[in-house]
Order: sequence, then C-alpha cells, then structure tokens
Amino acid sequence: MLYLVGETRVEREEGELATLYAEHAREFVRRFGPGPPRQFFAPGRVNLMGAHLDYNGGPVMPVAIDRGTFIAVRPRADRRVRFASTFASEGFDADLDGLPDVRAGTWCDYPLGVLREVLAGVAGDRVEGLDVLFGGNLTVGAGLSSSASICVGTALALSEVWGLGLDAMLRVRAALRAERDFVGVRCGIMDPFAVGLARPGSLLWLDCKDESTRHLPFDFDHISLAVADSGVRRELAAGLFNERVDECRRAFEILREEQPDATCLRDVFPDTLAARRSALGPLLARRAQHVIEEVGRALAARDALLDGRPAGFGARMTSAHESLRDLFEVSCPELDCLVETAATVDGVLGARLTGAGFGGCAVILIRRGGEAELNARLTEAFRARFAQEAAVEVYSADRGPREVEV
Ligand code: GLA
Repeated sequence: MLYLVGETRVEREEGELATLYAEHAREFVRRFGPGPPRQFFAPGRVNLMGAHLDYNGGPVMPVAIDRGTFIAVRPRADRRVRFASTFASEGFDADLDGLPDVRAGTWCDYPLGVLREVLAGVAGDRVEGLDVLFGGNLTVGAGLSSSASICVGTALALSEVWGLGLDAMLRVRAALRAERDFVGVRCGIMDPFAVGLARPGSLLWLDCKDESTRHLPFDFDHISLAVADSGVRRELAAGLFNERVDECRRAFEILREEQPDATCLRDVFPDTLAARRSALGPLLARRAQHVIEEVGRALAARDALLDGRPAGFGARMTSAHESLRDLFEVSCPELDCLVETAATVDGVLGARLTGAGFGGCAVILIRRGGEAELNARLTEAFRARFAQEAAVEVYSADRGPREVEV
C-alpha cells in the first residue's frame, strides 16, 4: 500500500515484515527514549551473472532481495549523532561538527562514511543531529551486500529526514564513495547500484564500463530465487577480494601491451589472451580467462532471458560457478557441494556462488513447486558431507529502498 506524506513515499508492509518493523521501532525507543522514529528499508542483493566483472568494466545482472536493513531515525534538538545496531555491540556517538575523519574499523564506518558524504553536499549548519538504530533481516557478511544495503539506506534516511531531496543516483554515489574512500574497500559499482536502483519484478542489467542500466523483466511468478548459506565466513575475505582486484589489474596491464586500445579487462579479446598467456603466467592467465569468458556468458544469459529461455540463463549461471571455482578460485568445498547438489534437483535451472565468494551463499534458480525438494536434498547432502545445516531460504525480488510505515 502506498501513502503520500508530504513529498515522501511511505509504504505500509503487511504480515511478518510489519511485525519486524514494529519490533525495531520498540527497540529504538528502548535505546534512545520515548518518541516514534521514522523508519526506512534498503534491500540486499544477489548477483545472478557477471561474477567479479564490475571492477573489470563488464556487465552484471544483480537482483535486489526482500531481506535488508531497517533504519529507524529520529532528529534531535542538538547536533549530536548516535548510531546503534541490533547486530553488533559497537556504537557511535559524536557531534556533527566534530565527526572523525579516520575509520574505527567497525560497522559504524559505513553509515559514518555516508554521513560525511551527504554533509559534504549541504550547508552542514542547516541540519540537526540524529539518533539512528540499524538492524534488519539480512544476514551480515554472507555475500548478500549488507554493506551496500546499510550505505544506500543511510543515504535515503538522511536525505528524507533532513529534507535534502537526493535522487536515487545521488544516494548510490554517496554510498559508493563512502565504501571506497572512507571504509577503504576497493569494491566495484555493482552493489550500491543493485540496491539503490532496484525495480519490482526485474533484474538490473548494469554495464560497468559506461554505467548504463536497463531493467530486465524476470519471470518471478514461475521461478523462485533460493539462497543457501554455506555458513562459511572468512575473516580475510576483504583482503582476498582486494587481491583478486589487484591480480585483474596486473593481468590487464600485460594484456594491454598486445591490445593498446583496451580500456579495461572486459575489452580484451580471447585472441589477445591466447597470444599473451605465457607472459601472464598461469595464475594471472586463469584470472583473465575467467573475466573474458564471464563477459561472454553474461551476454549469452541476457539473450536467453530476453528470448524467454530461462533454462539457457540458468545454464550460464552454473558454468559461471565452475569458472569461479577453477579459474578465479573464490569458491570453497561447502559452496561447491551446494551448487553441485542443486544442479541434480528437478526444476533447478542454475546455481552459483553469489557475491565475492570465499564462503557466503549460493543462489539457485528453481521452477516454482520444487523448493521443498531442493531444501531436503541440500540439507541431506550438506549434513552428510560437513555434519552441519545449510540454511536454505526462498527470497522474492525487492522493489528498492523506501520509507516504511511503522
Ligand atoms: C563483492 C563486491 C562487488 C563485486 C562482487 C563480485 O560483492 O562488493 O563489487 O565485485 O564481489 O562480483
């Protein structure tokens, strides 16, 4: 249901979500005292095609999911800013005029980075302080882009509460700069675009070379988006991610000698790679091969989707996983087990790890009706192999960041 309150879109959620928002608002009051907050939601995302292509200028095909960050906000009469969350013990408390300019190494760096970005674009003395409680129903650190969800959601909340009128693209840019420049992750552009530009019932086609976008309709009425969490979390995942970014950069420098007009690894032709393989050495050659072939797979997957051949789309996802496992080396035995088992279940169109890898989640496309069988088979295989449970859930595509009625 959609309401118009002044210039703000406020949506009332039904059912379980409404209960979760109400609980989040109560928690806000417990932490910050009486008085209702305004509340915002920003989704997470899964990426279906174009793995590790965003920072190589290639195309990606993410979809926002109906799990995300809840942000309850209430303006203060003074210029103090406080952040707390329901998912971590650390908080943040500072004056708007004395915000830290170095990161603390906690989750608070993400909203703080956005706060600094947003303030840089307005006369700072025009705005008042805030109390903010973060929470939600998105697993943090599982490759579902909890960080972009927090950042884009923060940009929306600040824009609305302070009446700044930032449009979706300005919010995406603030989130991206916060993560890159303040938090210091060398991420590509995919995650904030996927979260910030989501539309109902669609995948986002994002060409990361020219940043052009197109919303591609996807048949979510007949195909479910299942996500299986391997439970694996790597402390060093951010460092490993940066290592892959660096390897791709080094591979590109060498390949560009052969093809000087290439502006990023996405532009490099398979023939160029073949000609320079020995100069790259085996490791960089594997990384470049993944990127170059993944570009072709993403284009083929898009064509399959537009031609109404979802099985062709799914087949590319499963090939992408094999390449991530063998050439890009970002999978792990737990993710391989989930993907390989899923591929044997009736109705499954395709499966692959999502996000950066090194643990986290596998995303599986399955024809509606097959979800219970998929869950049973994954649970059984995972338990037999790792003596652990794999959490399998079915998500819906989400319509993007919004204010919600509490
Ligand atoms: C992480 C990064 C994204 C993207 C993916 C891999 O999620 O944040 O920018 O590079 O890995 O596709």
